Amino acid sequence: MTTSFDVALSFEDGVTRFVKCREGQTVMDAAYRSKINIPVDCSDGACGTCKSFLESGEFEMDDYVEDALAPDEESAGYVLTCSMSPRSDLVIQIPTTSAVAKTSAGSFTATIAEVARLSETTVSLTLDCEDREKLVFLPGQYVNIAVPGTDQTRSYSFSSGPDDERLSFLIKLSPGGVMSEYLDQWASVGDSLQFTGPHGSFFLRESDSPLLLLAGGTGLAPILSILRRLHASGSDREAHLIYGATTDDDVVELETLRGLEEVLENFTWVHTVADENTSAERQGYVTAHTEAEHLHDGAASVYLCGPPPMVDAVRRDHADRGFEPAGFYYEKFALAAKPDSEQEGAQDLEAAEPETDATTPDVGKTGHESHTEEREPTPAPVVLDPEPSAELLPSGEGRELNGEMILPRVELAELGADARIAAASDLPDGSPVEDLPRRLLGRVVLPAGEGGVGGDRVTDDDGLLVAEDARGILGQEAFATSVVEPLVAPRAPEPADESVPGTVTTDGYEIGQQHPSIQVSDAIFDARRALELGALELTIGRITSQQIAGYRVLAESTVPYVDVANERFTDAHAYTESNAAFHDYLFTLTGNSHLLSAYQDLGVKGHMEESLRSATWCDPRCAQDHLDIVDAMESGDRDEARRLFSEHAERSKATTRRAMNERQAARRPRFVTPGRFADQVVIVTGAGQGIGETTARRIHAEGGLVVLADRADTVKELAAELVEDRTEGVGDAVAVLADLETWEGAQAVVDAAIEQFGRVDVAIHGVGGTIWAKPFEEYGPEEMEAEVRRSLWPTLWGCRAVAPHMIERGRGTVVNISSNATRGILRVPYAAAKGGVNAITSALAMEFAPHGIRVVATAPGGTDAPERRTPRGPAPSSDQEHQWRHDMVEQVTGSSLMKRYGTLDEQAAAICFLASPEASYITGSVLPVAGGDLG
Ligand code: FES
Repeated sequence: MTTSFDVALSFEDGVTRFVKCREGQTVMDAAYRSKINIPVDCSDGACGTCKSFLESGEFEMDDYVEDALAPDEESAGYVLTCSMSPRSDLVIQIPTTSAVAKTSAGSFTATIAEVARLSETTVSLTLDCEDREKLVFLPGQYVNIAVPGTDQTRSYSFSSGPDDERLSFLIKLSPGGVMSEYLDQWASVGDSLQFTGPHGSFFLRESDSPLLLLAGGTGLAPILSILRRLHASGSDREAHLIYGATTDDDVVELETLRGLEEVLENFTWVHTVADENTSAERQGYVTAHTEAEHLHDGAASVYLCGPPPMVDAVRRDHADRGFEPAGFYYEKFALAAKPDSEQEGAQDLEAAEPETDATTPDVGKTGHESHTEEREPTPAPVVLDPEPSAELLPSGEGRELNGEMILPRVELAELGADARIAAASDLPDGSPVEDLPRRLLGRVVLPAGEGGVGGDRVTDDDGLLVAEDARGILGQEAFATSVVEPLVAPRAPEPADESVPGTVTTDGYEIGQQHPSIQVSDAIFDARRALELGALELTIGRITSQQIAGYRVLAESTVPYVDVANERFTDAHAYTESNAAFHDYLFTLTGNSHLLSAYQDLGVKGHMEESLRSATWCDPRCAQDHLDIVDAMESGDRDEARRLFSEHAERSKATTRRAMNERQAARRPRFVTPGRFADQVVIVTGAGQGIGETTARRIHAEGGLVVLADRADTVKELAAELVEDRTEGVGDAVAVLADLETWEGAQAVVDAAIEQFGRVDVAIHGVGGTIWAKPFEEYGPEEMEAEVRRSLWPTLWGCRAVAPHMIERGRGTVVNISSNATRGILRVPYAAAKGGVNAITSALAMEFAPHGIRVVATAPGGTDAPERRTPRGPAPSSDQEHQWRHDMVEQVTGSSLMKRYGTLDEQAAAICFLASPEASYITGSVLPVAGGDLG
């Protein structure tokens, strides 16, 4: 039987995901099978992209190259997830967030098994969890529990062990706290609770080192979980606990500790109370009861959970006394609400010595609930020793990319008799300097003996080559064709990938194609800078005046496309084009085909075209940089040129990063009700853009299996993007290109849905939209027909096409998208069509109700949307047409009580509500979504 292990992937944002990994299977493979996109690139131990930190566990590594993982990194605990397979359970810190890895914490439902009052101030909550086998956690981690009847969550560490069937938590009660109130007044056995998790990087590391456990108040919970795991695993690890409380009322679980002492061979413990009037054997803070022997001469690992002043006091105490533990892991929990009085707040200063005021901890800043644990966003484990090496790789400006050195740490010198491009010490003994090959990004840029080492200074007469692209600048010929030859053949465009993105491997699982992330984008510009700094060294002081003139024309050509005052592009596409010509030119001037080829391999222009497609913001200095660079090159000021290239790269990164973020944000539905459309098959017509697209995105995000229908190709792009989305809980998507103005098109969509997903649960008919805006008497017969064809027939055909299937199933929902234009000006044919949609909705609802099918509609008002990628019709051309369109907009805005246009998210929200089971008692209705205009 194949053995499999639990691998905990601990992300930077505190989320931990567990995957099952078979013996012999790589961690990367197991993660991707679980749809967790941990960072990888080569998948072969060659690039180092997947480098992560191993917290604990044993594993085997396949072959890998030293460039990917240096020996000192390996000994510091780093691993390559693409090349390692487990030999035990593993805990790995992944150097990215869960969101970037397209995963999130798990969601669970549990019922209350017991609420036990342990003391005046503390309650123990015990839960039975549905799908308990799917909840894997590490001892010390916590979950976020939704407080019933509120929209708030509270964080609690497990006090139960990972191996216990039931889950338990320690909760300190506070007057007015939402969880406290719930537990005190409402909670009863059998109540249902929701929680997400596990979270946190405070957990027990596998090791044999002795343990010093320090717990403050309900910080005892994770320590109990740790002790329970030690017991369940039969560990004989030495452990000493110092448990501190503020008053006797806060002391709980002593019997549990006594029981653990009996079953854990090497476990000892004491408890202490800060209150001078305590009846406990020990009085004072935990620091007063910490002895040097508990540190085992520095061999012990310290695990500390308590409020922030306690953590700070312990750290300071250790520093003062020169304690240096092998590992120091802590979790602070800030208090969630301001206490009624300082004195009350002081109760939470468990038995730790505060920094200044012995009785007043810094509580109440988060303003929610006193005495309730609320974990800091990223409870950070602190490992004092051993530390990973801080300087794992050499660096130097322009010489490093993604942590990898690409240029040696030497000053690049001018070409000429005294030039020295690489260190002579790199050569075998006795070899002439000319034998040094020069490399960039692993490729030879200047073969040995080439490039001017030992040669003469380049002069204006040397005729450095100029790329073909640089001859014409914005239609103006800068260089005669006869003197220009391309250095390398232009790269053939990549063949278009017609298939749905995703690579299906031989063993049948799919890894999606990845668009450049922000990090990749940054890396592209870093690489460009590195190459430009190399190119600079090859050209500065040697460019002819003719070449400088051409360089300046290229720099100036970028200027019109940046509106400096408003920090925006006037034309992002034109900027990308002219910017690419500017940057290419420097490489052509080097006369070095290897360098130009390395630059072209970066694909900067393609990346910018993709990323800046809808960009507006631009760093205002971007174009000015180009002019300044030319000035620096002309005057031979190397330092200034280097500074400018570096700063320009940063500005390029910032501009592109912002555009990528804005694009990403625009794609994200503003509101999401997770799971509302889980496994529902939903047709959305007109999904290529606008309201249809936004609705489809939201339904997909809510778990729906969406069939995206449109006649525009944009629907294929949308489907591809949604298919790529591996976030937990999202649905699936398929695109159907169809002309919805025809019966055949409508039928094809329903057929495709049934073929792909086996059924149709919901049909949303979104095709439509006014083509013209003009007085009724101005419409020609063909225009009127076109309006009705566009805005009535797709709904009529769509309802007819889906009817037999829904009737046969005896269930289904139809949502038609109408318009408030039925009471508006300058769009009478369109209004007639939408009036027809209203009639279809009300009449069909009567016919379909006996079959269990609901038919509803929304009537959107004016809606803000990005410029349409597929225009509905001709843009207004004459002043008169512009005026009519303006009048129509004025009327639409004026009719809205809110005096504004709606948003796509607002329209999608209403459609999704009507389409969902939440609207199960609504049929035949047309819901105006128009800021109070009833249409
Ligand atoms: S992905 Fe390249 S080394 Fe692992």
